Amino acid sequence: MIHVAVMGYGTIGSGVVEILEKNRETITKRTGDTVNVKYVLDLREFPGTPVENKIVHDFSVIENDPEVTMVIETMGGLNPAYPFVKACLEAGKHVATSNKALVAAHGTELLRIAGEKNVNFFFEASVGGGIPIIRPLYTSLAGEEIEEITGILNGTTNYILTKMDKEGETFESALKEAQDLGYAERNPEADVEGHDTCRKIAILTAMATGHEVDYEDIHTEGITSISDVDFKYAEKMGTSVKLFGSSRIKAGEIHAWVAPVMIGKDHPLYSVSDVFNGILVKGNMLGTSMFYGSGAGMLPTASAVIADIIEAVQNRNRHVEMGWDDSRLAIAPTQTSSC
Ligand code: HSE
Repeated sequence: MIHVAVMGYGTIGSGVVEILEKNRETITKRTGDTVNVKYVLDLREFPGTPVENKIVHDFSVIENDPEVTMVIETMGGLNPAYPFVKACLEAGKHVATSNKALVAAHGTELLRIAGEKNVNFFFEASVGGGIPIIRPLYTSLAGEEIEEITGILNGTTNYILTKMDKEGETFESALKEAQDLGYAERNPEADVEGHDTCRKIAILTAMATGHEVDYEDIHTEGITSISDVDFKYAEKMGTSVKLFGSSRIKAGEIHAWVAPVMIGKDHPLYSVSDVFNGILVKGNMLGTSMFYGSGAGMLPTASAVIADIIEAVQNRNRHVEMGWDDSRLAIAPTQTSSC
């Protein structure tokens, strides 16, 4: 039996526990073992729920329990997620996280520690919710030189823009709905100001190039200044307003930006609406591929975390390379920002 701890019992953490229960048979078949949630770390109590007796409030219980070999981090934010995840890896525990803020800010260090400790640090759920994009970039597209990644990478803002455009809703009421549906970050400023998209394009670019990308250098604009007038103009021009994160990699330079754009009906991302995300990846041999699916929400995002746990169980005795390691681009790129 594999004992895991779930750190953070919010939308994604509770989704992870639900899937582990609902898909128990399949997960057991694929891993050859049973995955047992031994602890759930949260500040709150959850009386009357299946995790009632698993709740702990003290991280050291997880850190110091040698039986817990895998940890799922779904707290979000950097504090205390960063020190807790670092301590888990240093204690030789595998970690799967949905936390893009953590991966964008500390991924390089955490990947290094995972390698040194012969464990895994996986983060498929950190970009695109349930859409498989981290592994495909690293494995299925390993033969490509990636030239461009452009996507709608934030479900909350895409939901808000869709509701404002198609149903004439106000920004505030659409945001409230996105929060009620569990799409938005705890602090939705991260969504609407474009910071969430910025971290995600930084992670994808690092995956594609093999080099760490400093998200603070990426020009970032959100959607807070979009008004009815913009939608009226967009309609007149037969276009739609979307928040894009984009990264172009050319001649050893990375040009990355996040901003709202107007796109026409012929653009492949035109029909990506509501909470869906769409990501275009252009390789020098393959041309352009599109990844599409649920970009946020409980079960889709939790499903990506479960995939990480399955891979971690399958590789419990070895470190699987899954990140940036400075080996994928011949020339170290210079990072610039443009729009
Ligand atoms: N707040 C994020 C979004 C959650 O809306 O896309 C998924 O990363």
